[in-house]
Amino acid sequence: MAYNLLKGKRGIIFGALDNKSIAWKTAERVHEEGGRFVLTNAPVALRMGTLSELGDKTGAEIIPADATSLEDLESLVEKAQEILGGKLDFVLHSIGMSINVRKNKPYTENNYSFTEKGWDVSALSFHKTMQVLYKKEAMNEWGSILALTYAAAQRVFPDYNDMADNKAYLESIARSFGYFFSEKFKVRVNTISQSPTPTTAGTGVKGFDGFMAFADKMAPLGNASAEDCADYIIAMFSDLTRKVTLQNLYHDGGFTKMGVSNDVMTIFERGMEK
Ligand SMILES: NC(=O)c1ccc[n+]([C@@H]2O[C@H](COP(=O)([O-])OP(=O)(O)OC[C@H]3O[C@@H](n4cnc5c(N)ncnc54)[C@H](O)[C@@H]3O)[C@@H](O)[C@H]2O)c1
Repeated sequence: MAYNLLKGKRGIIFGALDNKSIAWKTAERVHEEGGRFVLTNAPVALRMGTLSELGDKTGAEIIPADATSLEDLESLVEKAQEILGGKLDFVLHSIGMSINVRKNKPYTENNYSFTEKGWDVSALSFHKTMQVLYKKEAMNEWGSILALTYAAAQRVFPDYNDMADNKAYLESIARSFGYFFSEKFKVRVNTISQSPTPTTAGTGVKGFDGFMAFADKMAPLGNASAEDCADYIIAMFSDLTRKVTLQNLYHDGGFTKMGVSNDVMTIFERGMEK
């Protein structure tokens, strides 16, 4: 169901890799709601992924940019405004990567050069993106900037590894930079804390399937899917949420407010009867 909520709005969507990506689902929904955008991803991801398919489907140009490179980000923000014909109304940062996770380095044995690279990609890139947008005065008043995060920023999920620290840093950047963006340009900055979702980044975490099933049983509404997340992002890009800023918004079916659910208790009680 489309409501034309983003008619006339322009933006940048980072991080669509394949049709499972949260950014991919978001781009499809933004297109349905009348928004126009450019798609971007790291050059290496463009070679591996299928982004041109999404570009064709949504009429979006693709601009390669490594989100850790200020030079790439500057060129991206300039080109996006040229292509779309003016300042931007929305930006989605949907980027995450941990080399410690990829290489199965447990948290207690992290390799710090991997840690630094993962932090740069997953957290600092959000500061860099906003700094470029801020300096270039590239956002329209009442625009909306969003990044995606996970509840391991507040709670312990052992196999989420150093991504937990990266997400805590990312959420702090949203608050800190969000203050300056909201005050000077009336642009809101928020993070959405999403349920476990079966994407390339998600399934890379050890024990993902078991954990996703557990989260689904804990959450009274069940896990939020990538499509659900795209819908929430549309709401946050629309004019209906103009005074929401500096927030970390949980989008997890209620998971983070739970202690235990009847469904999880039933499974444990069954196990004890054996
Ligand atoms: N999947 C989950 O369970 C889950 C849960 C909560 C939050 N998130 C967050 O959602 C966001 C999107 O991830 P996803 O689950 O859609 O997975 P995904 O693997 O589809 O997307 C991650 C993207 O980051 C991009 N990326 C990596 N390095 C980059 C760089 N240097 N420059 C630019 N882009 C780069 C990748 O190419 C990829 O497109 C991430 O921030 C992730 O941490 C995911």
